[in-house]
Amino acid sequence: MAKKQNFSSYFLHLAICVVAINPADAYERKLPAIFIFGDSAIDIGTNNFLNSYARANFRYNGIDFPHSKPTGRFSNGFNIGDQLAMRFGFKKSPPAFLYLLNHTSIDFKKKVQRGVNFASAGAGILDETGFKAWNAVIPLSQQIQQFKTVMRNITEVKGPNATAKIIAKSLYIFCVGANEFFDYMRNKSTAPKEQFVASVLSTYQDHLKNVYNMGARKFGIMGVPPIGCCPYARAINEKEGGGDACMQLLNDFAQAFYNSTLILLQRMSSELPELKYSLANVYEMTADFIDNYAFFGFKDVKNACCGLGNYNGELACYEPISPNLCQNRSEYLFWDLYHPSQAAAALLAENLFRGDSRYLTPMNFSQLAEAQVHI
Ligand SMILES: *[C@@H]1O[C@H](CO)[C@@H](O)[C@H](O)[C@H]1NC(C)=O
Ligand SMILES: *[C@@H]1O[C@H](CO)[C@@H](O)[C@H](O)[C@H]1NC(C)=O
Ligand SMILES: *[C@@H]1O[C@H](CO)[C@@H](O)[C@H](O)[C@H]1NC(C)=O
Ligand SMILES: *[C@@H]1O[C@H](CO)[C@@H](O)[C@H](O)[C@H]1NC(C)=O
Ligand SMILES: *[C@@H]1O[C@H](CO)[C@@H](O)[C@H](O)[C@H]1NC(C)=O
Ligand SMILES: *[C@@H]1O[C@H](CO)[C@@H](O)[C@H](O)[C@H]1NC(C)=O
Ligand SMILES: *[C@@H]1O[C@H](CO)[C@@H](O)[C@H](O)[C@H]1NC(C)=O
Repeated sequence: MAKKQNFSSYFLHLAICVVAINPADAYERKLPAIFIFGDSAIDIGTNNFLNSYARANFRYNGIDFPHSKPTGRFSNGFNIGDQLAMRFGFKKSPPAFLYLLNHTSIDFKKKVQRGVNFASAGAGILDETGFKAWNAVIPLSQQIQQFKTVMRNITEVKGPNATAKIIAKSLYIFCVGANEFFDYMRNKSTAPKEQFVASVLSTYQDHLKNVYNMGARKFGIMGVPPIGCCPYARAINEKEGGGDACMQLLNDFAQAFYNSTLILLQRMSSELPELKYSLANVYEMTADFIDNYAFFGFKDVKNACCGLGNYNGELACYEPISPNLCQNRSEYLFWDLYHPSQAAAALLAENLFRGDSRYLTPMNFSQLAEAQVHI
């Protein structure tokens, strides 16, 4: 009798383990594809194909990626796009659009059906954002045009009705906005701040409506983190006499951006039938990591793990310039002068996926993926 019990509890245990190893499997069927739009926080190598200064396909980037490969991710390992995709049952982020275009041996039409990553480092919501600092970027408007191409390609294979279903049930992740404010700061712009945020938001609305009108329904939108606390901004702030502190200008913009995006999405969802969204307060999440760093497993939330200059925040993590490289990368919030470490990206993704109303409005990303849409 006891033996039998052991036997069945063994199988029960086994079953739990199988479920535990693959918690996201169920999503594979629920979520046909993930389409990713945005900037360097979520770019997985788009800019490798551009004549851009905003690139990361060199060491020590990727040092914790499989085979220590510098893929173009601004990270020591998997970035937020990968980490999110993993939670939905994917191995990592879907491939970059330009990667697929450049690899003609890949079956493009087949490959795009699980999703595509259009994000481009340095890009923003406005068409002009990023060009002065980085020479070449793919702005959000162009990323959306590329998505249109992908939609046509899927339609060729699946026909219009099946494609409409795939498009409506897929998840659209937007991680963009920070570069508008970096540009404002670098330009030493004196444009009225409220007007600037309003013009960014009005353009954002046009872009999001455009994607909605193509049939997208599930929008996972990330706000801007406290970019005034990244090592790059801290270094500038200190140089300009602000002391050892975050740059207020950038943090104010980030909060104003979140506040305005929330109002925008509330309005859009009342006007556009079946629009579902999850807005992530990445500002609040990251601020909590900084304030309670020990609780979250960090030891350093000011300095970049890899880089040179004050806070390792003045030069990129580029092996030929012999940058500093920290001993334990998972103890750092920041990988380089602008970007989170793999450890921080994993924490962010976990919060996006199953966070509560403190961080996500009106639902979290896992609930967004499961939301029913009628087409
Ligand atoms: C794009 O493809 C061409 C031709 O195969 C190749 O020479 C080039 O290195 C590729 N570019 C990148 C960035 O991989
Ligand atoms: C994808 O669609 C675009 C636009 O319709 C077309 O130009 C391109 O050749 C298609 N690509 C593939 C590989 O089918
Ligand atoms: C596609 O959907 C339309 C409208 O619901 C329907 O009239 C049409 O028969 C469908 N076409 C196919 C090929 O299923
Ligand atoms: C920054 O300057 C560039 C080049 O002059 C301009 O195109 C861009 O609109 C400016 N951006 C901001 C936010 O001031
Ligand atoms: C954003 O909204 C919060 C909460 O409503 C408020 O405390 C904060 O002052 C606002 N920040 C900005 C920059 O608008
Ligand atoms: C690195 O830091 C993490 C988090 O503090 C810790 O769990 C881990 O043991 C450390 N690794 C090494 C090699 O010291
Ligand atoms: C967020 O996601 C988790 C996991 O899917 C879910 O169980 C939870 O209820 C959600 N939390 C809130 C408060 O939205």
